[in-house]
Amino acid sequence: MAAHKLLLLPGDGIGPEVMAEVKRVIDFMNDRGFAQFAIEEALVGGCCYDAYGVAITEDTMANAKAADVILFGAVGGPKWDGVPYDQRPEAGLLRLRKELGLFANIRPAVCYPALADSSSLKREVVEGLDIIILRELTGGVYFGEPKTITDLGNGQKRAVDTQVYDTYEIERIARVGFELARKRRNKVTSTEKRNVMKTGVLWNEVVAQVHRREFPDVQLEHQLADACGMQLVRWPKQFDVIVCDNLFGDMLSDVAAMLTGSLGMLPSASLGEVDPKTAKNRALFEPVHGSAPDIAGKGVANPIAMIASFGMALRYSLGMGREADLVDQAIAAALAKGLRTADIKSDGTTVIGTAEMGTTIIGEMERLAT
Ligand code: IPM
Ligand code: MN
Repeated sequence: MAAHKLLLLPGDGIGPEVMAEVKRVIDFMNDRGFAQFAIEEALVGGCCYDAYGVAITEDTMANAKAADVILFGAVGGPKWDGVPYDQRPEAGLLRLRKELGLFANIRPAVCYPALADSSSLKREVVEGLDIIILRELTGGVYFGEPKTITDLGNGQKRAVDTQVYDTYEIERIARVGFELARKRRNKVTSTEKRNVMKTGVLWNEVVAQVHRREFPDVQLEHQLADACGMQLVRWPKQFDVIVCDNLFGDMLSDVAAMLTGSLGMLPSASLGEVDPKTAKNRALFEPVHGSAPDIAGKGVANPIAMIASFGMALRYSLGMGREADLVDQAIAAALAKGLRTADIKSDGTTVIGTAEMGTTIIGEMERLAT
């Protein structure tokens, strides 16, 4: 069995704590002969800036390009508020996304039955929720040029960000959305602001064309992005796959995450284009939550989003759907036992720490596998 090369980038804040639990899951799978994983680990974000003066090193970029799968924790924190803009912790993540061409960011929002009461919305609104926010990840206002602050010389400054999309960028993310929908409930909601933005006009047009040409069997609807935000908290179960640009996707995925009870629950996959020669694509998996500096180092962070991100790696990159199911079922079983980290606690449940949650999930994997 050839070893799968995993590059682990725990990052800052709670990143290393939640990644530690994934390492234990990986060790467990290695020991039990589920697969053979070879692990490398490197710094990214603020900790990398402290060590090397950059948010990610050239060595790590090269390793990332050679890895089968990248697992990413979280970056950033108030400690690095004053570092140069180009080396701020987030720059490491953005460089990985851009240089590896990880244009398709899949962010599932699934409400585990045991957690329906942790959501700030009513149980009936979120119970059984299973939607995907598909976010375009390498274009739009995140990377558009010019991106500047100019001194106007009269005591005023002018800041410019540029929102830009080419046809091919919209086409390829739309295709991923339609293909995902075909394996689910066959519905795509495309969001943009065509009422005020030219990129929205083009987005709408191109998604409609791809639909007509290649996916007429899939149900397509268009929603303005602000209305989509409203609908997400009003009746989220109307959605299946929501396709959005980089910035709207950033915002709507945080909203969707919170429907499920906690940001600490949501994994994500960022995928590049499939290489026709190798049939493989580059892939990075990360929790949707951030580095949560306020609780870092306390052993209370929720490791579920990070472990579920590894589950997505098994499913989307390594062809190990059965093992991915095992991870997901073990998470659901741990929750069904009434065990919770602090972020998802509710009446009648028992609060445990990061490592205990990891131990419980591994225990459930063991039980379910035998
Ligand atoms: C996310 C994060 C990042 C983003 C930050 C850390 C750059 O918020 O992955 O959603 O804005 O894309
Ligand atoms: Mn975000």
